Amino acid sequence: MAAEKKLTESLIESINKLKKKRNAIILAHVYQRGEVQDIADFVGDSLDLSRRAVCTKADVIVFCGVQFMAETAAILNPYKTVLLPDKNAGCGLADMATDEQIIRIKKQNPGIGVVSYVNSSASVKAVSDICCTSANAVNVVNSLSFNPVLFVPDRNLGSYVAEQTKKDIRLWEGFCYVHEHIISDKLKHLKEKHPYAEIIVHPECTTPVRHMADFTGSTSQMSKYVKQSQLREFIVGTEDNFIYRLKSDNPDKLFYPANTLCEGMNTITLEKVKFTLEKMKYKVHVPEETREKAEIALDKMLTVS
Ligand code: 13P
Ligand code: SF4
Repeated sequence: MAAEKKLTESLIESINKLKKKRNAIILAHVYQRGEVQDIADFVGDSLDLSRRAVCTKADVIVFCGVQFMAETAAILNPYKTVLLPDKNAGCGLADMATDEQIIRIKKQNPGIGVVSYVNSSASVKAVSDICCTSANAVNVVNSLSFNPVLFVPDRNLGSYVAEQTKKDIRLWEGFCYVHEHIISDKLKHLKEKHPYAEIIVHPECTTPVRHMADFTGSTSQMSKYVKQSQLREFIVGTEDNFIYRLKSDNPDKLFYPANTLCEGMNTITLEKVKFTLEKMKYKVHVPEETREKAEIALDKMLTVS
C-alpha cells in the first residue's frame, strides 16, 4: 500500500514537471478515474471542456477523455497541440454514424436540419448544421429555423429533446452502451435498498429509465442539482466515475452507483498521462477541410449555449 502511494506520488511529480516543461494544460472529463481528475487543471462536462479548450493560453492540451472530445479541442484550436493519452480511447456511440449516411439522408430530405451531438466524429460534425452537448441540446434544437430536425447519433438524448420541444425530431438509431446498461429494474432494486435516495439520470438513458427518475440532466446539470438539493442520498444513473466528482464536491452526501463503466474513459491512467507528455503522443489531427467545416458547427453551438 505504501509502495503504491509512493509510486502515485512520483508519477504526479513527473507529470507536473513535464506539464511545466511543455506549457501544457490537462483537461479531464468527469467520467475519468478519480486519480486522473485529481491531476487535471480543469474537470468538467463536454460543454465546459469545449469552452476551456477555446480560451487556454497553453501550447499543449492533454485531453483526458475519449477521442471525440480531444478532436473537438483540436478543431477549436488549430494552432495548438492536442494530445490524447491513449489513441484507442474511443466512444462506441460516436462510431454509430458516418458522414456518408448523413449526406445521403440530407439529399433524400431537402430542408432537413442536422444536429449532431458532440459525441460524434469530426467528419459527422462537418456535415451537420450545428452541434450540441447533453447540457444544451434542447436550447440548440429550439434555436434552429429548420423543421424537421435529424438528431444524430443518440436516440435516447434525441427522444429526451423531442419531449421538450415542438420540433419534429427524427431519431438516429445510435445509443451509448454504458447508459443502456442501466435498466429500470436495477434502479428499482437500488431504490428498495435506499428508499430516501432520489434517482438522477443522464439523458443518454432509455425513456423508461428517464421516466422513473426524479431528475434527468447532463453531468453538469446533475452536479448543480445535487449541490442545491436538501436531500442527502442519490442513486446515480450514469458512468460510475462521476460519483468521484459528486463525492468530492459534496462530502456530506451519499451516492449509489448504477454499476456501469465506459471502457474508453477508463483506459486513461496516470502512467499514460506521463507517457503522453514525455513522448508528445498521441497528437490529434483533423484534416483541415473537415476541421474548418466542423468548427462552424461547433462555433454555432457555443454561441447558443
Ligand atoms: P456530458 O455532456 O454530460 O459531459 O456527457 C458526455 C458523455 O459522453 C455522456 O456519456
Ligand atoms: Fe461514449 Fe457512452 Fe462513453 Fe459517453 S459514456 S463517452 S457516450 S461510450
